[in-house]
Amino acid sequence: MQYPVKSGDPGKQRTACLVLGVFARRQLSPLAKQIDQACKGQLSKLLKRGDMDGEAGQQLMLYDLPGVLAERVLLVGLGKAREFGVKQYRQAITGVVKTLDRGAAGEAVCALADLELQDGDLYRSVREAVMTAQEALYRYDETKSEVKKPRHPLKRLTLFIADRRRLKTAQKAAMHGQAIAQGMNLTRDLANLPDNICTPSYLAEQARKLGRKHDKLKVQVLDEPAMEKLGMGALLSVSRGSRQPARLIVMEYRGGKPNAKPVVLVGKGLTFDAGGISIKPSAAMDEMKYDMCGGASVFGTLRACLELELPINLVGVVPSSENLPDGDANKPGDIVTSLSGQTIEILNTDAEGRLILCDALTYSERFSPALVIDIATLTGACIVALGNQASGLMSNHEPLAQELLAAGRQSGDRAWQLPLWDDYQEQLDSNFADMANIGGKGAGTITAACFLSRYTKKFKWAHLDIAGTAWRSGKEKGATARPVPLLTQFLLKRCGQAD
Ligand code: BES
Ligand code: MN
Ligand code: ZN
Repeated sequence: MQYPVKSGDPGKQRTACLVLGVFARRQLSPLAKQIDQACKGQLSKLLKRGDMDGEAGQQLMLYDLPGVLAERVLLVGLGKAREFGVKQYRQAITGVVKTLDRGAAGEAVCALADLELQDGDLYRSVREAVMTAQEALYRYDETKSEVKKPRHPLKRLTLFIADRRRLKTAQKAAMHGQAIAQGMNLTRDLANLPDNICTPSYLAEQARKLGRKHDKLKVQVLDEPAMEKLGMGALLSVSRGSRQPARLIVMEYRGGKPNAKPVVLVGKGLTFDAGGISIKPSAAMDEMKYDMCGGASVFGTLRACLELELPINLVGVVPSSENLPDGDANKPGDIVTSLSGQTIEILNTDAEGRLILCDALTYSERFSPALVIDIATLTGACIVALGNQASGLMSNHEPLAQELLAAGRQSGDRAWQLPLWDDYQEQLDSNFADMANIGGKGAGTITAACFLSRYTKKFKWAHLDIAGTAWRSGKEKGATARPVPLLTQFLLKRCGQAD
């Protein structure tokens, strides 16, 4: 898909389809008004007849409108002008793109990106148009025997901007949107794959593939003997119950100054979580293939940064394993020694994410990081607390937390902060080891972060619990690619490139 940006006279656009917005109560958007004049009031006449009143979700395709060069004009209802924000805008774009992809146009000039949003500027609306369109067009067909392809798929969506002086901003936004969308597609593809294909070794191979494509990306994969040698007893204890060997995937992108400290992203790459001996109930257990979404978001974010050649040093670390019951699996009561030297009493083998993450976090010290962000589908409790709307955020450095919250708001991929007070730490007390791997009844999301905080004392660190945001269940089951938009926004801002 291409997303060029263009300005000029809307009536003079030679295109298969010109997309125009109409607000509720038959209120034409500014560019639609211009077209209405060009076709001598045909649009207002139609509205008066009652064929469309501008309610959100409405669409009306017109053919051969006099006075305009476009073959078709697609009118899109936007709802009340006063309430028109990013959410309504995204709905409109999704509807338009689906209609165009099903129809015969093949390409279109879309004037919706020029609309003013209550909660966003032009940069946002253009970027969002590209990302929303890419999301609407995303299809998973990797493991289907028959692939239904549209007969005239949409190949180009030109984003029309009235004001020429704003073209530069719009072009930058389109470029950012493309890169983020590409990253998100990689994340979605990896996450949606079944666990019998997407194993730790498969993820490692995908990392190598990414490394071969970009010469600024160095990829290193640690196998079990290498991890054994380092002393990653916590991570290895999780994979012992699985026939699939664990991997520690390390991807280093050097786009910044040689001696600039890197940002390190650590993503939970648990390719299937059955819970281990503390086995999960069987309902919806298939969704535990998504327990590698944190890792997949690290892949996607790196991919976006590579695409944009961001001037930053960025390291992605993805500890990857399965968690299954087996004669050799972790048992409740087992005590393991982590890479940090701290011992852990495993009271619940289903709290495995923190076990693989703690060793990956300790491993991150070797990069002398500017900061470390870990991303993990870590606790069901996070879904109880925040639902599917916000990722949970906890941090040992308040300014970093604030930056991430802001990046979430700016990208529409929001996070919400939970406290990481010392008061919660005692829930991890163990009579037999330095700590237990679970914190008892209350505040499950926070005690999981408390556990991780014991491995992140040497750097600025933030933790994103994406258990509720990484995928959708039900009829629309599928990965969302969150929090790739949040993370990329954070990195763009760090490089001074976000508006
Ligand atoms: N991967 C799960 C968390 C999860 C559960 C994410 C459901 C999304 C949906 C994690 O490994 C886990 O099992 N956590 C346990 C921790 C508990 C044993 C302290 C949980 O949340 O139940
Ligand atoms: Mn688990
Ligand atoms: Zn898990």
